[in-house]
Formats: sequence, C-alpha cells, structure tokens
Amino acid sequence: MKIERPKGTRDFTPAEMAERNYVEKVIESVFERANYSQIKTPTFEHVELFEEKSGEDIKAHLYTFEDKKKRVLCLRPEATAPVCRMYAETLRNMPMPVKAYYFDPMFRYEEPQKGRYREFWQLGLELIGAKGALADAEVIYLAYSCLKKLGLRFRLELSHLGVMRGLLSSLKLSESDQRKVIACVDKKDFVEVKKIVGDETFFKLVSLRGGKKELEEARKLLHGYGKASEALNELAEITEILDLLGVEYVVDFGVARGLEYYTGMVFEVRVDCLGAQNQIAGGGRYDDLIELFAGVSVPAVGFAFGFDRVVEAMKEQKISFPKKEVDVVVAPTSSDVRGEAMKIAADLRSSFIVDVDLMERRLGRILEYASVINAKYVVIVGRKDLGRGEVTVRNMLSGEQRNIPLSKIKEEISKDFD
Ligand code: HAM
Repeated sequence: MKIERPKGTRDFTPAEMAERNYVEKVIESVFERANYSQIKTPTFEHVELFEEKSGEDIKAHLYTFEDKKKRVLCLRPEATAPVCRMYAETLRNMPMPVKAYYFDPMFRYEEPQKGRYREFWQLGLELIGAKGALADAEVIYLAYSCLKKLGLRFRLELSHLGVMRGLLSSLKLSESDQRKVIACVDKKDFVEVKKIVGDETFFKLVSLRGGKKELEEARKLLHGYGKASEALNELAEITEILDLLGVEYVVDFGVARGLEYYTGMVFEVRVDCLGAQNQIAGGGRYDDLIELFAGVSVPAVGFAFGFDRVVEAMKEQKISFPKKEVDVVVAPTSSDVRGEAMKIAADLRSSFIVDVDLMERRLGRILEYASVINAKYVVIVGRKDLGRGEVTVRNMLSGEQRNIPLSKIKEEISKDFD
C-alpha cells in the first residue's frame, strides 16, 4: 500500500530539523531577551474567529470541517486572531503589556509552490496593551534583530494603513470599497484599483517608496487631508526611533497587507532569493481586533515570520548552519561488555553528546559509523581493558589511541573542549 504525504505538506529529515531548531533558537532567544513569553493556542478553532476581520483571502483558503456535533471548525490559518481570543478568555488579568510569542503550524488551502505550503510554520509575537510609536518600533526592531542575527540579507518595507485609509475616506470611499482597494493594492492589482479610485493623489501615494525624502513628498501630497496627515506623523515618529536603533528600512506607501484587521503601522520583510513567495515576515498594528472578542478596546501590534521561508532564504543565501556534533561513540568489543559500555555512555552523557553501539557491530564497523557521523572520540570498551579498570580512547581526528582509567575518561575527552 503506497500512501503519500498530503499535498502541500512536508516531512523534515533529522538534518533539516537541526537547521530549523537552530533558527528557532536564535529567534526565540531574541524574543526571550526582550521579555516575551511563549504561549500555545489550539490547532483548530471555531470558524467564526476568522470570519469577521481576517479578510477574503484568508477566508477563501480555510481548512474547514464539521465535528461530530456539527460544529464548524477550521485549522488555524494564522495566530493573531487566536491570540486575541485567548487574551479575552485568559490573559486579561496579566500585567500590561502582554508580551507573547508562538511557534506553531498554520494551515491555508492554497496552491502549493516554492515557499508556499498548506501546512507552514509561523514564529511570531504579539504585544498587547501598548499603543504608540515606541511599541510599533519595538516590534519592528525585534523582527529586524532576529534576521540580522541569522545573517540574512533582506528588505524591511514600512508603511501606515492610516495614511491610505485616511486618504480614501477623504475621497469619500465607503468602508467596503476601502477594503477592496486595500486588498487590490496588496496584490498590486492597480487595474482593479482604478475602477474604484479615480483620484491621481492615491496613485502617487502608493507608488512612493524610499526614505525621508519620500516621507516629505507624502507630507506635501497629503497636505489638507487631516486623518492621512496624522497617520503620516505617526509613521515619521516610528522612523525616528528606528533611525536611533540603527534599523534599515524602506518607507513604501504601497504596503497594504492581506489581512483586514490592521489599523496603523504595517510592515513586510522581503528577500530577493525566493521568487514569487519572497515575503518572509509581515505584521502591524491592529487596535480594533481585541474589542471583537473582549468587548473593550485594547491596542495591539505584532508580526510573524514565515518560518519555512526564513530557513529557505538562509539556504539560498548560502548561510551556514552549525553542524550537529556528536562528541563520543562508545564501542563495546564483545557482547559480554555491552552492559558496561551502556553504563559508561550513560555517565558520559552528563557532560557530552554520546552515542553507543546498539547494532552489535564489530569494532571496525563502529569506527566507520563514528567517522560518518563525525564523532570526535570513540571509547572502546574491551573485556581485558575493563579488567584493569581502563578503556581505550581514540581521537577520531588524529587517529591517536590511549589507554585511560575509567575514572579519567571525562578528563581526557574534556581536554579538547576547552
Ligand atoms: P501573513 O502575512 O498572512 O500575516 O503571514 C505571515 C508570514 O507567513 C508571511 O510573511 C509568509 O512568510 C508566511 N506565509 C503565509 N502563508 C504561507 C504559506 N502558504 N506557506 C508558507 N509561508 C506562508 C499573518 O499571518 C499575521 N497573523 C502576522 C501578524 C502577527 N500580524 C500581527 N501579528
């Protein structure tokens, strides 16, 4: 019987998991050092959670199913709405701001291609309860720091949805038309946008891309558009903090985001090496989402890495991952010393990464195995040596072998670990 993986899913080999674990650790350590704590939400939720404010794109790609009691559930397509639900249900009494991060699989029924999967991982964070430029800048800074720490080359594109929305409101577009326009701008479908917006100012705005000069141009362009100008001031304030922190960014008024819950600052991170699916992170401020579940208005901001794409971009950019290291392989030379060999391995494991022969192989074969897995030492356990309270320690790099008393094995091996 041949059963294959479901379309859009992947298996990960031990080598791939070692790479993924490394990336996870680097990112999580940046989050932990900024005092964010990990949370978990369920893999499936009531479908209504994503219906109100996630946007058409997400809704079209939901993995929906009915349970035995006819409840309509879905595998989570993203984690921001679940975290807001969790905030309303269980996190409300925590000291503010709530600083939470997650690393979980998400599910979207999309057409798979390079960098786009039906099951994919997001490593993201949400900062709940803090409003203003400082909170926005912190979130952007954390995303930036993680990618710098991993050694990636990337572009951070920054905008503020209040600018686009403010202008569209001044142009008297209804809420639903605004949503349509923002979704089309996100997809760079300007033919559709033209059908709804006639004003040239809008097209000038969304094509503005650069730095301080473009912010100034936007200021001139939006002179007299009250709400849009206010949002622009907020964006300028964020950029000033980012400048202080040494964060490199591109102000791009064409960044719109595919999800509907954003209300303020938005950002996306892109790389050149991944083809069409080149967005490796996205986020922004969503001050109206929590109210939907909690009944009170609570400001919030966050972002998520497309974890798989971060790992893939690192490979494309030839960034090396630390190799998995095996310090010792313990090799019994006959079946009557296997128990003792296992005991020696168990003791050594308090200090080293230790493999022990479990295949009942002959010594020559164990040495071959140790060499294939790049072990640094082989501890050869033989009956005769044991009788003298000794083992033979072989340095796999130099080929040198020495008889060592049982009580001194750790010392011998530690020499090279200083
Ligand atoms: P998003 O932009 O939809 O935002 O997803 C975040 C990241 O997940 C994307 O930048 C992309 O790298 C990755 N991603 C999305 N779909 C796929 C897929 N099918 N296969 C592989 N990777 C994918 C959100 O989900 C928001 N919840 C982010 C956020 C957190 N905003 C505020 N807080």
